[in-house]
Amino acid sequence: MLGRLNHVAIAVPDLAAASAIYRDTLGATVSAVQTLPEHGVSVVFVDVGNTKIELLEPLGETSPIAAFLQKSPSGGMHHLCYEVDDIIAARDRLKAAGARVLGDGEPKIGAHGKPVLFLHPKDFTGTLVELEQA
Ligand code: CO
Repeated sequence: MLGRLNHVAIAVPDLAAASAIYRDTLGATVSAVQTLPEHGVSVVFVDVGNTKIELLEPLGETSPIAAFLQKSPSGGMHHLCYEVDDIIAARDRLKAAGARVLGDGEPKIGAHGKPVLFLHPKDFTGTLVELEQA
């Protein structure tokens, strides 16, 4: 079921500053900023060849990463995103195995224009997991 690692996401308090670290200090290619109101974040993607780094900044009052940044004000690893071939089949299999799907359990369109779901970190070794239909 589990496909390749699509990205590692890092929550940051300042997207422009974080982008500059990756672009100027680390010499990586950083995408343009995308705002995703439905997900409560602004994002950029850093292409590191074998996978991507997603830098996430809170967007709006009810951003799901606001609480994370209160606990970790300088930022930190927020989630891992794995690709799956069929997100509905993957969701149903995981739910049958007792895993909790966040939100209303229905996929939303993610930053790559593809359906995504998030799984409860307590069911996955303390790590928030995003599934993206490849
Ligand atoms: Co993500």
